[in-house]
Amino acid sequence: MPINVFEEMRKGAAYDIRQEDYVEQVHSELNRCASLCQEINATDVNDSIVDLPKGNTEIVAEFIQKAVGADLFEVETEKSYAIDYTQCTIEAKEELRNNDRPELVKMLDSVAEYDNIVVAGPCWWGTYPVAVFTQLEALDFSGKKVFPVMTHEGSGIAGAPAALKKYCHGAVVGEGLAIQGGAATGSEAKVAAWAKKNLA
Ligand SMILES: Cc1cc2nc3c(=O)[nH]c(=O)nc-3n(C[C@H](O)[C@H](O)[C@H](O)COP(=O)(O)O)c2cc1C
Repeated sequence: MPINVFEEMRKGAAYDIRQEDYVEQVHSELNRCASLCQEINATDVNDSIVDLPKGNTEIVAEFIQKAVGADLFEVETEKSYAIDYTQCTIEAKEELRNNDRPELVKMLDSVAEYDNIVVAGPCWWGTYPVAVFTQLEALDFSGKKVFPVMTHEGSGIAGAPAALKKYCHGAVVGEGLAIQGGAATGSEAKVAAWAKKNLA
């Protein structure tokens, strides 16, 4: 199972190597899995690749909402990313290298009415997709507490806490939560326990 491979990479041989090498290994494994998924989908659904109805991060965000009550805001880019997994990772890596700030479909202008803000996102090359930074940099987090939540396929919470320290100006960064993407649908109890401890 891919999950076990990622776990082995995290705990075993890859443990001592540089983070960048580790992320490369995660991607090579994800690419292998994506190819396998494409083969399976091609067999199962008449040669067409199906989109998942809901992303892993959205599943986790909704568990948080269900546990403690929360407004949800989705960061959505004007541009679209490649559907092909490998191509998408190439685009994302390029954006990260260039420190891009992609345009968003809509922006939140203020978080003044909230005390606690959870920034949930998929791990892209060890941090949030840079589009999340487009939104975070536009907000004033003075006096707020922000919580990093990351879904991933092996990197764990990775650079999420550091990113919030850097981009949420004025905020205190609280305890983070990492959920392995493939386990998102079964993570409700873990997510709810974290949410009740930190946000209730
Ligand atoms: C462009 C891209 C980069 C990714 N980089 C990483 C990574 O560095 N480490 C990791 O563990 N998973 C990585 N992943 C896997 C995603 O973080 C993981 O599948 C996540 O749960 C997807 O969430 P979503 O369904 O909300 O998009 C990457 C996926 C994509 C598409």
